[in-house]
Amino acid sequence: MSDVMDFFIEKFRKNLELKPEPSRYSSPRPYRNAMVSFRGCSIYDLEERKDILVNEAGLNPFLFRADKIPGCDLLSDSGTTTMTTEQWAAMLLGDEAYGSNEGYFMLKEQIKDTFGNSWGNGGGSAPGVNEDTFIFHQGRAAENAFFSMLSRELRKKGAVEHRPLSTELMPELKERIQSRADSIAGEGDAPYYIIPSNSHFDTTEGNVEDKGMVPLNLPCREHLENKEDFDFRGNMDLEELESLLVNEGGRVPLVYLTITNNTGGGQPVSMRNIKLVRELTAKHGVPFFFDACRFAENAWFIKNKEEGYSSVSIPDIVHEMFDNVDGFHISFKKDGLVNIGGAILFRSGTPFDKLYPDFREELTDYQIMVEGHPTYGGLAGRDLKGIVVGLRTVTRRDYLDARIGQVNRFGAKLVESGIPIVRPVGGHAVYIDVDKFFDGASHDVEFMGISLTALMLIAGHRFCELGTYAFGKFAGGQEIPPDPRVNNVRAAVPRLAYEDQDLFSAAEAMKILYDDRDRIPGVDVKYGRELKLRHFKSRFTFK
Ligand SMILES: Cc1ncc(COP(=O)(O)O)c(C=O)c1O
Repeated sequence: MSDVMDFFIEKFRKNLELKPEPSRYSSPRPYRNAMVSFRGCSIYDLEERKDILVNEAGLNPFLFRADKIPGCDLLSDSGTTTMTTEQWAAMLLGDEAYGSNEGYFMLKEQIKDTFGNSWGNGGGSAPGVNEDTFIFHQGRAAENAFFSMLSRELRKKGAVEHRPLSTELMPELKERIQSRADSIAGEGDAPYYIIPSNSHFDTTEGNVEDKGMVPLNLPCREHLENKEDFDFRGNMDLEELESLLVNEGGRVPLVYLTITNNTGGGQPVSMRNIKLVRELTAKHGVPFFFDACRFAENAWFIKNKEEGYSSVSIPDIVHEMFDNVDGFHISFKKDGLVNIGGAILFRSGTPFDKLYPDFREELTDYQIMVEGHPTYGGLAGRDLKGIVVGLRTVTRRDYLDARIGQVNRFGAKLVESGIPIVRPVGGHAVYIDVDKFFDGASHDVEFMGISLTALMLIAGHRFCELGTYAFGKFAGGQEIPPDPRVNNVRAAVPRLAYEDQDLFSAAEAMKILYDDRDRIPGVDVKYGRELKLRHFKSRFTFK
């Protein structure tokens, strides 16, 4: 009798240990639905969606009413997480005291636990004194505060001498910085400071530029060459970074890595690349920060794809990643598994601390003015408790296996239909390569990503253009495409919200468009082409 059971235990275990493939499930999701939300609209309301799309939304997915989307809303994975029952329970126990609420202290403890013991130690019983954790209502508010303070601190250091870029810079790099600086300067002073990153997210880029600095993307060669078998396409190009630091280090207040690299395709950064960036920045005395929105997903890729990490736990990998940086900002709306929240965190005794000794004190004042006291910073006490539980859940290996496995299966389904996507698939989204989608098309392909997202809305699914419209700009009477060129339509998968059936139906709708792609027209921009962050606001019509 027991032999039979042992026999099947062995068989079941073998089945679980088989390498996951897009088309097979050996294990169930590590959670089950505790609540569902029925739609108030039907997938058959095609004419109604056409009417809303044209007459209300001007073909812009951001302006399309969410309650009329019966399928997958893949506009963003940010703030769209389905929270767990544990999170809702914790939120009911929210402490809504005006200062020093219970959630703040729990969050500081959880930060130590999640990111390592050198984080979350300041403030505490005397909040505001040497505070190292600055809570904001979302990531971009944190970025805005960060760059407002940074530009203030840089101005304090005195006026800069506006000299030309060094002739020793790698020529192609120099040209890129110059053309970006020229497009920012317009009639005004040429910007002096440069903020390099593997790739800035659009709001980070907007905040850097708004403070008169040049946001510079240095994605690795493998990414630019579209190497589909390279696992860490989020890496930074170290040769270009070194050229920049050696020749223009004085113009670089800090270096960034965005983990994972949302703009570049949700691609992870390897531990090796993180450590090499740390080495270079340390050598040149330049601070190093993360934009850490999807830190846990990045850690999963290190565990599963980077040599030497398969037996290291996700929490230990996260600690090792964060040991390298002076600070980070984060939108908890991604890997905090919540619907709202963000933060800036600093480690004490770092080069950043030494270069800008007043920074944290001034940031505290700024935070009080725009968000609230450091112990709640723009969030309700209950929100802080939701983040605490979210941070505890997000580094679970079973959660990350299910999450990243689902995004991967969705990508595989699109590939199966012949649709060109950025490969390998990243952690939170599938990126459809718009240039390849329309490769060989007989018509003008400018802004075809907008056409795709509009037609997908009629099918009942919402995707997002992150390409020549979102990242390009219209200046001096002409269109300037993003450099390096990116032209994707992104399907960002909300966490814990959809099942594979939903995503596969979206993939099928995309296949219908792909099969008849020659019939898809471009768009005319009716409003907003010249505006900053224009993809959020513009209106279009089909040509
Ligand atoms: C990499 C990255 N940084 C920053 C942000 C901004 O965060 P938030 O939406 O909370 O303002 C996002 C949002 O998607 C992001 O993906």
